[in-house]
Amino acid sequence: MNKIFAFFITVFLLASAAAIGLWLTGNLPGIGQEKSEGSTVLVGVPQIGGSFSLINHKGETVTDEDYKGKFLLIFFGFTNCPDVCPTEMQTISLALQELGDDASEVVPVFVTVDPARDTPDIMAEFVAAFHPSIVGLTGSEEAISDVKKKYRVYSQKQNNDDPDYYLVDHTSFTYLMGRDGDLITVFSYGVSAEEMASKIREQL
Ligand code: NI
Repeated sequence: MNKIFAFFITVFLLASAAAIGLWLTGNLPGIGQEKSEGSTVLVGVPQIGGSFSLINHKGETVTDEDYKGKFLLIFFGFTNCPDVCPTEMQTISLALQELGDDASEVVPVFVTVDPARDTPDIMAEFVAAFHPSIVGLTGSEEAISDVKKKYRVYSQKQNNDDPDYYLVDHTSFTYLMGRDGDLITVFSYGVSAEEMASKIREQL
């Protein structure tokens, strides 16, 4: 590839990634938003979320329709993640504990961005380490790529020739979806369990 062309493509991709990051965290000017500590309510922006058909950690096919009527707390990551994913799953687990009986209104979901390695069995082991109600979702590369697009999730396998040992860079937002499947809020990585639980409780 022509070097100058490659350079412009790189600049474009970096700028796009930065814009999406700013947009998701609500720092882009001109977009309606209400900020409060640790979370951002987005107003009047293109839709996040939508239909999906994936495989849960028990090996069953599930779709978004199966969860209608409940709140969904959705995080995208991969089970081999050394830090961000386990930390955020721990926060979700603590938020569920904080919610007590109200936690039954919430389905916590961990969607893998690494379906090649994250089989239902591996997902089952991973989610069980955090909370019994967390649903692990995997699927074909196409199905995962489709749901990532709908949630504006970016992920990129790090350059590595080893097919078994590699890391995946990924966005680390947790999405709270309402009973009707519409986005309510996005939690940034590092949000406290208390903040997450209180935002959820406001919606119940
Ligand atoms: Ni991760």
